Amino acid sequence: MKRILVVGAGGQIGTELIPHLQKHYGEDNVIAADLNPANVERLKTFAIAESLDALDFQAYGEMIKKYRIDSLFNLVALLSATGEKNPQLAWKINMGALLNSLNLAKEFNCAIFTPSSIGAFGYNTPHVKTPQDTVMRPNTIYGVCKVTGELLGDYYHTRFGVDSRSVRFPGIISNGALPGGGTTDYAVEVFYEVLKNGKYTCQVPEDSYMDMLYMPDALNAITQLMEADPAKLKHRNSFNVTCMSFNPRELFTAIKKRIPSFEWNFEIDPVKADIAASWPDSLDDSCAREEWGWNPQWHMDAMIDDMLKAVKVKIDKGLY
Ligand code: SER
Repeated sequence: MKRILVVGAGGQIGTELIPHLQKHYGEDNVIAADLNPANVERLKTFAIAESLDALDFQAYGEMIKKYRIDSLFNLVALLSATGEKNPQLAWKINMGALLNSLNLAKEFNCAIFTPSSIGAFGYNTPHVKTPQDTVMRPNTIYGVCKVTGELLGDYYHTRFGVDSRSVRFPGIISNGALPGGGTTDYAVEVFYEVLKNGKYTCQVPEDSYMDMLYMPDALNAITQLMEADPAKLKHRNSFNVTCMSFNPRELFTAIKKRIPSFEWNFEIDPVKADIAASWPDSLDDSCAREEWGWNPQWHMDAMIDDMLKAVKVKIDKGLY
């Protein structure tokens, strides 16, 4: 990877992936593209940033040519809960951006990373220690897009030799940009609410287990996988990765140990409750460990301490 284009760069992952890539590959070699003008302005404060609609094949190709790109990171997506509000739009955006990215990767000989998700699994997937290769029958449009994306990624690799790689991200906890429209968002929102208002209303049932990753581990997953020796990869699209699994009650109880005045209650969103129930409780990430050395560092307690510190700094500075 020498010249990298990140599309959908203004979201939760891109906002922190850009500085991570700049550190590894040099500031001049990382281009951040996003459709939303406010995101482009924000990205311009720390990166080479461009306005780009990833559904515009022509414009996307021009940008690859302009910057002589050799690696694409496609982060464009509507998340799981938002997708259920408008499934047709979710399909159009998620699949449109992915197909353009794959076809352009083929045309310009680029490597391509695009995240899959625990959302690719469904009710009839084994929920505990979910294996790498297992039943994948998701019941959300987001999940349908992710499974299709995994299949297409592998198809473009075997059929056209495209160097496509991907991980199935669980919920990602971070303190850069907020996530939006996801079922796992509660595990980020709670930190802001507890520090600002001392309380949090959760839409996901208290006993719903889901896998989570802290952002530093998620970023390492991306660069480690993209740098991995292709000869060692038995899988490509996509690898299970995880570091912790908890339910809302366990997370909130652990936060309360640090902030005894914290109070929470539940106003269940039936869509999110259904999605959470259909996803795995815990993933088996042994293939990622064996094939490219995945070794996450941030477990629950260290993550909570770091989040509370970082979000407090943001709130004290009036940034939230
Ligand atoms: N964080 C995503 C969501 O909840 C999962 O990939 O939709």
